[in-house]
Amino acid sequence: MGKKLYIKTHGCQMNEYDSDRMKDLLSLSHGFEVTTSPEKADLILLNTCSIREKAQEKVFHELGRWKDLKQSNPNLKIGVGGCVASQEGKKISERAPFVDIIFGPQTIHRVPNLYEKSKKLEDSVDISFPKTEKFNNFLPHKDKKPSAFVSIMEGCNKYCSFCVVPKTRGHEFSRPMQKVLNEVRELASEGTKEIVFLGQNVNAYREGNSKEKGLGLSKLIRETSKVEGIGRIRFITSHPAEFGKPLINIYREIPKLAKHVHLPVQSGSDKILKYMRRRYTAKEYIEIILKLREASPGISISSDFIVGFPGETERDFKDTLDLVDKVGFDESYSFIYSPRPNTAAAEMEDSLSDETKKFRLQLLQEKLKGNSQKISRRMVGGYEKCLVTGVSKKDSTEFQARTENNRVVNFSSIETNILGKFIKLKITNSMPNSLRGLYNQDN
Ligand code: SAH
Ligand code: F3S
Repeated sequence: MGKKLYIKTHGCQMNEYDSDRMKDLLSLSHGFEVTTSPEKADLILLNTCSIREKAQEKVFHELGRWKDLKQSNPNLKIGVGGCVASQEGKKISERAPFVDIIFGPQTIHRVPNLYEKSKKLEDSVDISFPKTEKFNNFLPHKDKKPSAFVSIMEGCNKYCSFCVVPKTRGHEFSRPMQKVLNEVRELASEGTKEIVFLGQNVNAYREGNSKEKGLGLSKLIRETSKVEGIGRIRFITSHPAEFGKPLINIYREIPKLAKHVHLPVQSGSDKILKYMRRRYTAKEYIEIILKLREASPGISISSDFIVGFPGETERDFKDTLDLVDKVGFDESYSFIYSPRPNTAAAEMEDSLSDETKKFRLQLLQEKLKGNSQKISRRMVGGYEKCLVTGVSKKDSTEFQARTENNRVVNFSSIETNILGKFIKLKITNSMPNSLRGLYNQDN
């Protein structure tokens, strides 16, 4: 019987992408097959996230649950990767001495080798930053999906004062465009219809020496749209200060580019944006939105917000609420500020009480939810071009599809051969987290 791999992924889509690449590499190197139960595993990998303290604490909680499995299976190896591993390195073994392998976001391709050397922890720790080496070692995606992630860059140079990413994922570098396109072509030839380009700071993607903001990504989008079989293109996550003209204009040119942008604003207060070192003002952010809406009428905009940043007054928070009203965001994420190790904001004085932070978060989330439900309700009665991505999570006799603004639509169909197809669905109802649709083959 082949060896079994259990892999758990926390955090962002880049971690999901990395975990899938590790599955492929370990299948080739050692014949590992994926299992969904840790009890059956010979190797357990935890791909971690350290963006907020809560995410980091989850790691040791999770590892603690697996510790006892080593008693029933002495051959079991446990590996920790991702941003917590990058941040803490060998220190992880102080809190979890039963861990055998420690690797960072840029050494996932070395995991088969680290597994070989995992008799002694000293030999199986590698959190270095060898840049493109990781991408050069990837295999063709084994798991075929209608919608596939493709990482196009790694790391970030922005050093927003609250963020650990530049420390844990290293400095920004972009993959050569031809290599990315080869991955896209190979996915398309296996039936993938939608490509989601990934990067911590995806619109800073550079091709060659050009420094023009948004030019590299806009070229990549244009070239991808020419690949036969690809019907929809997305990219996450963008930074407002990199959203240059070429990227705005590409919305006029490429209908395959989804009319949806996730553009984290973080705050509506210029003072807080400055403290955060975000490199734009609220006015400049709104100007980008206006230009995007001019280039692509009806485009949906979602965002990330941080509340309770050190120094945030009632007035600053109100500026955030006002910005939400002005922009009318679609489904967005919001978080209470969490101080992170080795970041500039961690040194700032934080005098706000937990109650105030929670209260502000609740107010903001209610507003955001109200907005996004308004958008959902507006969609009812209309038709949406949707990509069928799988079966419904709640009812396996039904299908699940995604609209252009990335809403989940559940629907039933007598035609079963529709996975991975673009279809037109009539939206019949809006729920808090999804939509219901009606499929009529003749439409
Ligand atoms: N590259 C993206 C952000 C990646 S992190 C950008 O340019 O914005 C995803 C989100 O997590 C961020 O947008 C931010 O809203 C949130 N986040 C990051 N660090 C945080 C912290 N220290 N505390 C709370 N939320 C944080
Ligand atoms: Fe983090 Fe800011 Fe980069 S949020 S990922 S440092 S753009």
